[in-house]
Amino acid sequence: MAKFTLPDNSKVVKGKTYPVSQKGSRNIKLFKIYRWDPDHPDQNPRVDIYEIDLMACGPMVLDGLIKIKNEIDTTLTFRRSCREGVCGSCAMNIDGVNTLACTKHIDEIKGDVRIYPLPHMPVIKDLVPDLSVAYAQYASIEPWLQAASPEYPDRERLQSPEDRAKLDGLWECILCMCCSTSCPSYWWNGDRYPGPAVLLQASRWINDSRDEYTGERLDQLEDPYRLYRCHTIMNCTKTCPKGLNPAKAIADTKQKMIGRQG
Ligand code: SF4
Ligand code: SF4
Ligand code: FES
Repeated sequence: MAKFTLPDNSKVVKGKTYPVSQKGSRNIKLFKIYRWDPDHPDQNPRVDIYEIDLMACGPMVLDGLIKIKNEIDTTLTFRRSCREGVCGSCAMNIDGVNTLACTKHIDEIKGDVRIYPLPHMPVIKDLVPDLSVAYAQYASIEPWLQAASPEYPDRERLQSPEDRAKLDGLWECILCMCCSTSCPSYWWNGDRYPGPAVLLQASRWINDSRDEYTGERLDQLEDPYRLYRCHTIMNCTKTCPKGLNPAKAIADTKQKMIGRQG
């Protein structure tokens, strides 16, 4: 029978509160952050509260997290690298939306800043989800140029500007997985359905005029649990922090499937 409540050891409990340290702080924002420590698997996940003086903090949510880690609680764990929206590693659920901590302005958030890991993924620690299945799914679409014709000895495989333009809206994906982890089909069938991020990446290679394995790529997706598990719910497109449209990429691939039957 379906269960609609979390098991007792998964319920998120109230954690510690870390009051602001500076005297006379005037612009305080509460950061309420999900914590789970694999070294204490018997303890429930909790939400710790950190009081942050915004006068002494950078403007982005990632600045707040770095301030907490540097000045308040070194045990807080999260991923980040580029801090400018190009590596995808700081993806997390902020204020109820999957997005990048480094490009999310604190002052866009009314009330407290609530931060959780990307939903429906196993948690390694605190805000770090386990993305191994998602990366294996990415590898399964063989995301590199494939061609049977021989390479040119003196030049690269060229592409017209028009053909190159067909990759716009696809190449910009940073594989942050905000879209896949917002997709109900991926939540329920993530072991078999590759999810919108991987399907958008598949579309990036299907649409590359230099790739000669389009038919094989489409064959690989033609399965009720691959392409057709997308039910056009559109959460993916709504949440993408790069403004991309995975739902459209999936719909285009479905069109190509139909096109080759004719
Ligand atoms: S499509 Fe957008 S949300 Fe999805 S992985 Fe790529 S950049 Fe992230
Ligand atoms: S449009 Fe498809 S991929 Fe995007 S959220 Fe909906 S079901 Fe998932
Ligand atoms: S740190 Fe690279 S996208 Fe946020």
